[in-house]
Amino acid sequence: MPSVDEPLRRVLVTGGAGYIGSHVIHCLQETRRYKVISVDNHHNSHPKCLDRVAQLARDALPADASANDRESAEIDIAACDLTKKDEIRAVFEKYGKGGIWGVIHVAAYKAVGESTEIPLTYYENNVSATLYLLQVMAEYDCTRFVYSSSATVYGTPPVIPIPESTRLQADSPYGKTKVMSETIIGDLCSADQRWRALSLRYFNPAGAHPSGLIGEDPRGRPGNLLPLLAHMAVGRVKDDKLRVFGNDYPTPDGTCVRDYLHVMDLAKGHLLALDALSPESHVFDNCPTDAHFKAYNLGKGKGMSVLQIVEAMRKATGFDYKYEIIGRRRGDVPDLTADPALAEKELGFKATHDLETMCRDLWNWQTKNPNGYETTSKVNGTNG
Ligand code: WQD
Repeated sequence: MPSVDEPLRRVLVTGGAGYIGSHVIHCLQETRRYKVISVDNHHNSHPKCLDRVAQLARDALPADASANDRESAEIDIAACDLTKKDEIRAVFEKYGKGGIWGVIHVAAYKAVGESTEIPLTYYENNVSATLYLLQVMAEYDCTRFVYSSSATVYGTPPVIPIPESTRLQADSPYGKTKVMSETIIGDLCSADQRWRALSLRYFNPAGAHPSGLIGEDPRGRPGNLLPLLAHMAVGRVKDDKLRVFGNDYPTPDGTCVRDYLHVMDLAKGHLLALDALSPESHVFDNCPTDAHFKAYNLGKGKGMSVLQIVEAMRKATGFDYKYEIIGRRRGDVPDLTADPALAEKELGFKATHDLETMCRDLWNWQTKNPNGYETTSKVNGTNG
């Protein structure tokens, strides 16, 4: 891990203006050891988000901050379509060979149901883009890679909680794009031992930075449970009832169980993974093959059902949620709960925030930004 007085390590974060990407950038900036370049096509994000992220970093600088510290608080923003190799090359060309120390690849389409309707768009955006990114990285001697994967790679897992050794058997095109990308990365690392790559299998991120300055701001109607509940409570979604997709699953209350973790914990997991790519790290010492590639679950190891989430949000928002049970949603599986032991042992990862904190931070973000980043509101003395 570099010390604070070493030159900043330049890191490219794709999807940097998105929900996960913005919290990851914030976490990197808190260390003042990295200089971030953000790439985002704003398919599901807002440009204003990164203004807020940079504000958080600037506000945290001490009066006597060094030039390096101030530089780390600024984000280089690169416009780039990751499905166009030349555009990726133009970004790397700006910094030259070896100019970018590592890449955290978060950008992806991620709606399970939508992926069954437009699979080719998902394969192009999630797999081709990853391939092109890796090819250009190799051209510019950038061989450190943190990949945003997903619990959906496990499909309907045979064992709960799920260990990383579980066979990958994704059911949806979205999940298959994640399996294919992990396969590509693994084969690359087998072919060239210069590469060091970690795949982070996200369970269900939730919550927001406690300041309420950044948070989840999906375009249009949220597909995911927690942001939908927040939108209902703030009046952005006018549904009189939540539609619960099935209560006939083999779970304690019949509704699906998921492993929700605070987005700040998830972001910290990316920092730990990035630091683990440093030469002095031992994370690859006991690799079964000579490929410097490993995958880790990022979850709490605690499953919560849909109805339990509704209750937790009822407490956090004071909103009187009504719901109706309707049919199952295509692509849903009964239970995705992580076994987080490997990430804890080898990365030092621990999801410490509880569900109450996730719901409280989500609600704080939503009430301060009822219309997301479009809102012009007095947040910490600034216009939104
Ligand atoms: C959670 C539960 C629904 C909405 C997400 C991402 C996916 C991947 C995994 C990153 C499910 C139920 C939801 C509603 C409901 N993340 N639900 N009514 O399905 O686990 O997927 O995490 O890779 O990309 O989408 O999360 O929040 O969509 O659903 O009953 O209106 O809530 O059936 O059981 P999911 P979710």
